[in-house]
Amino acid sequence: MARVGILTGGGDCPGLNAVIRAVVRKGIREHGHSLLGFRHGWAGAMGGETVELTLENTRGILPRGGTILGTSRTNPYKDDGGVERVKATLAAEGVDALIAVGGEDTLGVAQRLHDDGVPVVGVPKTIDNDLNGTDFTFGFQTAVQIATDAIDRLHTTAESHNRVMVVEVMGRHAGWIACYSGMAGGADAILVPERAFDVDEVCERIRRRHRAGRTFSIIVVSEGAVPRDGSEPRGDRQTDAFGHVRLGGIAVELEGQIEERTGYESRMTILGHVQRGGTPTAYDRVLATRFGVAAIDAASDGAFGQMVALHGTDIARVGLEDALREPKVLDPELYETAEVFFG
Ligand code: F6P
Repeated sequence: MARVGILTGGGDCPGLNAVIRAVVRKGIREHGHSLLGFRHGWAGAMGGETVELTLENTRGILPRGGTILGTSRTNPYKDDGGVERVKATLAAEGVDALIAVGGEDTLGVAQRLHDDGVPVVGVPKTIDNDLNGTDFTFGFQTAVQIATDAIDRLHTTAESHNRVMVVEVMGRHAGWIACYSGMAGGADAILVPERAFDVDEVCERIRRRHRAGRTFSIIVVSEGAVPRDGSEPRGDRQTDAFGHVRLGGIAVELEGQIEERTGYESRMTILGHVQRGGTPTAYDRVLATRFGVAAIDAASDGAFGQMVALHGTDIARVGLEDALREPKVLDPELYETAEVFFG
């Protein structure tokens, strides 16, 4: 019997509530623990904003998007006395173990706190699927489905108007969403952060396709894709507490460049946060539930500094340090398979 804390940090993601529900359900029913939620990620852990989590108040949340705990991109290591305040809150609340659900930033803090003596277990979350140590993160499959549905819809309007459609999806360091949704949606080109692109080559591909009789094209681009000429990623240059520049908008430039170079009418769509909203797919609900159960088990076993992960079809534990060494970039073989269908 222990007191276990849980927080959700960073960008939200479909499946967070499924993790919370699973942690609470197994934690109370099978381990006899009490569960304390921290509001708004590390901000709540610093400020002592808590909510007691019970079987009752976590009922019915499995299919709900977002996170009932709230989230933020707060970094206690960037806040004067932030780490001491986290430790003080945990001590005041009598927390024996903390489960941090997040991506590279939230789990990066978790790992540093673990090194500083805080008993933490990590759960990998990001629609971008760019965390190492796990084959998939929950939320990714939902985002891919949303993007694929959008590409399908854009296909029919592109065809009716003989247009080039540029679809921008999320993916800061990695083109997982672009590659999966582009493959599923039959994209004619997929531009990802891992491979700098040449807009002239993209245009030539479109021209070739149109010369061969096609009258429309679909280009899928990750928000973090960069042109080969080395120009900086677009964005308004605002940065968050982890130093990330706010991305979004590369499709605007591409739309203009493609139309200007090819003469084909072009339109762009930025899917943005639609990809992060709403109910998780069945796959993500199951993965998030498995991660939640594994996380409370890991906390109960004292497996601190570890992250739960998916290896093949099995749930495993990996060191946070190993998982966070570098982002998980796109498998080149997957991209090469996608390329077979370009143009
Ligand atoms: O969580 C990662 C991510 O989905 C990135 O792909 C994107 O750049 C970022 O979130 C945007 O998040 P926000 O607008 O909430 O800061």
